[in-house]
Amino acid sequence: MANETYLVTGAMGCIGSWVLRHLTDQGAHIVATDLQDDPVRARLLLSDAEIADITWERLDVTDTNAVSSVVENHQISHVVHLAGLQIPFCRANPPLGAAVNVTGTVNIFEAVRAHDVKGLAYASSLAALGAPETYDTWPLPDAVRTDPATLYGVYKVANEETGRIYAADWNVGSIGLRPYTVYGVARDQGVTADPAKAILAAAAGVPFHIRFSGQVALQHASDVARIFIGCANAEATDAHVFNLRGDVIEIADFVEMLKEVEPGAKITFENDSPLPYPADLSDAGLRGLLKHVPHTPVREAMQNDIAAYRDLLASGKLDLKQLEG
Ligand SMILES: NC(=O)c1ccc[n+]([C@@H]2O[C@H](COP(=O)([O-])OP(=O)(O)OC[C@H]3O[C@@H](n4cnc5c(N)ncnc54)[C@H](O)[C@@H]3O)[C@@H](O)[C@H]2O)c1
Repeated sequence: MANETYLVTGAMGCIGSWVLRHLTDQGAHIVATDLQDDPVRARLLLSDAEIADITWERLDVTDTNAVSSVVENHQISHVVHLAGLQIPFCRANPPLGAAVNVTGTVNIFEAVRAHDVKGLAYASSLAALGAPETYDTWPLPDAVRTDPATLYGVYKVANEETGRIYAADWNVGSIGLRPYTVYGVARDQGVTADPAKAILAAAAGVPFHIRFSGQVALQHASDVARIFIGCANAEATDAHVFNLRGDVIEIADFVEMLKEVEPGAKITFENDSPLPYPADLSDAGLRGLLKHVPHTPVREAMQNDIAAYRDLLASGKLDLKQLEG
């Protein structure tokens, strides 16, 4: 990794912070970029010395010239592109959502093309797909009809199609990944953060209500980050889009398991409120590309997370404000 420099966009986010954790473990040169200036989530996962070793730059991915300059100036070899606005933000401000999620991603592809970056992995989302009842092949393969129900999903489809055209027209390879319910330390916002918050609440011994039920694909943020890095390192020469799988589990079973792991846990969930996404996802495509797809089984991840949350609460690095919203 000595001559390789990784650009991480959206590095202050949940997945971004875990990418920094694992790239640091691998001894990589890292240029971490975001609109925000304070690495609040990274501080949950990295020491102050590790954070100081990272090159931090404020980068707005909607700024075409700034994205190109960062890639050129730091001689970036690999990009993990995670910057994005989530469903509620895209709904509240569609033009800004499109600017960040669509134009921002085009800017990344353009910089990768102009400066011969070797490997690009970017975040699509399961929200690019339609409702589960519209599909009939299970587990669900990667190459199914996209049918987004939100503008956020439409923008992610645009990213996947952008990848396809950059490969066809300019031989720019890329791998888009479609995370679903990402959980773990630093996952603190959005409805699908509720399983992560339930684990935090169990660690703290306070009640928490998960706002949905039904089957989900739970994907630990640490595993997801390692998959993004693995996909950037794969240096794809074509355009790929992959589902992730993780643990496919009913929320009722997740809650029962959490109560077994932490017998005092006071966790409830909303009955008959499934999320509108398919959960039984095939990751055969991803397995075909990576020799090893990182996967921490949910029971083990719960145990690790509870221990980590307790340490963070005890040291004052984390409070319970995120459980209020
Ligand atoms: N977490 C999930 O469950 C999940 C599921 C599906 C897809 N994804 C996708 O994965 C990516 C990372 O997810 P996350 O949970 O870490 O998201 P996050 O919301 O925690 O982080 C996104 C980061 O992007 C940054 N950002 C926003 N606008 C920007 C701009 N104009 N320029 C630069 N940075 C900007 C934000 O400041 C934030 O730190 C996102 O693209 C998201 O859509 C996440």
